[in-house]
Amino acid sequence: MSDVSPQHHHVMKIVVVGKGGREHALVRALVESASQPQVFSFPGSDAILELAQPVDAHDLDSLIEWMTANEINLCVAGEESYLVTGDGLANRCEMAGIPCWGPHKQSAQLEASKEFAKLFLERHGIPTGRAVVVDDADQARLAIAGKYPTVLKFDGLAAGKGVAVCSNEIEAEHFLHEVLVQRRFGAGRLLVEECLTGPELSIFAAVVDDQALVFTPARDYKRAYDGDLGPNTGGMGAVASRQLIDEAMMEQIQTTIINPTLQGLKKDVLPYRGFLYFGLMLTPAGPKVIEYNCRFGDPECQAVMPLVAGDLAEFCLAGAKGKLRKDLLDFSNDWSVCVILASAGYPESSRNGDEISGLDSVTGARVYHAGTKHVGDAWVTQGGRVLAVVASAKERVLAAELAHTEASKIQFAGSQRRSDIGLRSF
Ligand code: AMP
Ligand code: GLY
Repeated sequence: MSDVSPQHHHVMKIVVVGKGGREHALVRALVESASQPQVFSFPGSDAILELAQPVDAHDLDSLIEWMTANEINLCVAGEESYLVTGDGLANRCEMAGIPCWGPHKQSAQLEASKEFAKLFLERHGIPTGRAVVVDDADQARLAIAGKYPTVLKFDGLAAGKGVAVCSNEIEAEHFLHEVLVQRRFGAGRLLVEECLTGPELSIFAAVVDDQALVFTPARDYKRAYDGDLGPNTGGMGAVASRQLIDEAMMEQIQTTIINPTLQGLKKDVLPYRGFLYFGLMLTPAGPKVIEYNCRFGDPECQAVMPLVAGDLAEFCLAGAKGKLRKDLLDFSNDWSVCVILASAGYPESSRNGDEISGLDSVTGARVYHAGTKHVGDAWVTQGGRVLAVVASAKERVLAAELAHTEASKIQFAGSQRRSDIGLRSF
């Protein structure tokens, strides 16, 4: 009998779904894995496709078909959109017999529906802001009851624009009009939520059923300008370090938030194998959940990945098959600082086609591409967030200074960068 074909004689084939800076970082970490997998990306970007090979697909159906035809061993969900498209990426992978690192559609409702997430949190006694779900503006006014500040959250997907922290009635009325009268995001309910205070923290766990491995904690910078001023963005930078919080806080987050979440997923029969993002507020009354996301953060992923050593490819494959292999990864105790270079007009708009120079002179940092395009011999801007420059060091200030120094070597017309990432507003 010669039909025993040992798995390790085959090169693992991975497809990463997504196209942004987060996926560039994931693809790079997978490519650098000791198991030396062959990495493909869908839809990918010009920069990602320098490390990974393209996938000939245009939607979920053709992606599943292509992965089956090409004997893909693992599908890694970078972004969330396909997790809730059609029957869901993970569900479709399961039907096709392809291990998937990313949760089933029903579990991804934790990100897709704020009402679903809030009910989950309340049902399982996980600390979070009190909230009331309303259908129209009158119910919303009753729920607000004249108490400000208040937080209003549209229930469905709203491209990151569905949350308003309102400090007075004028701001609340403006949001209610946009969302419940003009229906800017379409039909859907609204959460009126208690306003929490304290520093925010992003915790990422690799979840395999009812077990989890917590990655390095991170903090992102959501506002456009220095000093946390200006409009909200997708994130202008991030800092990651195990030293962001002390042991006691990590322990409290584990016992009051992470463990009950894992138990809740199990009780509710919500299959979960993939990254789970806990958006937390460290309030005076302890850490509370602001939101769940069913993926890694962007740009937190770009900050965290350089701190991770080991075999991410084997880790994700084992996880997708139901084994949490903590032994496959190691986390550095260093600080990592990620600085975003954004294009002219961001976040209201973005400008494409500005030629980028200086990329080759960056020596002390990693550069991940979020919104670029290769034209002839040059890289040009193609989107709002263009590049992430990431440096690490033993000390936070050293990592930050290095990231800023290296970022300053890169130029393009209209380039925007916060100068306080990792230094001030911290
Ligand atoms: P989300 O879209 O849920 O991530 O919310 C966007 C941002 O709104 C969060 O990062 C917080 O800064 C803020 N936010 C959300 N919920 C609350 C809350 N209950 N209290 C205070 N700020 C909040
Ligand atoms: N950095 C925030 C997010 O990925 O949603």
